Amino acid sequence: MKVPFGKNDHVKFVKSIAIGLKNAKALNRYLELGIREGPCFNVVAPLAEEAYAVDYKDCYKYISENNNLIWYHGTTVSFLKNHDKSKKFDLVFIDADHKHESSLEDFNLVFPLVNDNGLILLHDTYPTCKKLTVGYCKDSYKTADYIRRNYFNKCEIVTLPFYYGISIVRKLDRQLLWMK
Ligand SMILES: C[S@@+](CC[C@H](N)C(=O)[O-])C[C@H]1O[C@@H](n2cnc3c(N)ncnc32)[C@H](O)[C@@H]1O
Repeated sequence: MKVPFGKNDHVKFVKSIAIGLKNAKALNRYLELGIREGPCFNVVAPLAEEAYAVDYKDCYKYISENNNLIWYHGTTVSFLKNHDKSKKFDLVFIDADHKHESSLEDFNLVFPLVNDNGLILLHDTYPTCKKLTVGYCKDSYKTADYIRRNYFNKCEIVTLPFYYGISIVRKLDRQLLWMK
């Protein structure tokens, strides 16, 4: 099935979320899991104070011009298991291995490392046909479903059914962070 959006259309969406957080003075640390050639990272990183990039392929050459870059060359799991828990993230983009088990492991490991009111985005959670659930997007849509069913009271989630699916998770313990 032909879809009316391109491979990198998600970038403008992630960027607009990052701009909103920055304007709200709520974008200190950005983390992107899975960098490829950096089309998203290079747009979002300049909006944050610190920008963490993780990939097991050598993507450094694509993103090295960001002067706030903290580059980790290795697996998402090893990065997340070794990250300093006092350095919490405000915006996370999970876009590495799209298999359900892998994206769920990334989500479970990153969740405690996110600030309250922080946002976690998962890509490719709304494949537009069955072929894409075994190919390009794999079955990470099951991870969005799992979060919706199992993380209630800890976050809210919506999956936007375009750009192959972007799920937005907001970590919360109450609707308004500032209200005691
Ligand atoms: C879909 S691409 C990332 C796209 C990028 N976020 C963007 O917006 O264009 C997936 C990337 O994740 C990396 N990757 C896949 N599994 C990984 C893992 N377990 N640990 C680290 N990197 C991984 C791949 O090397 C690849 O560069």
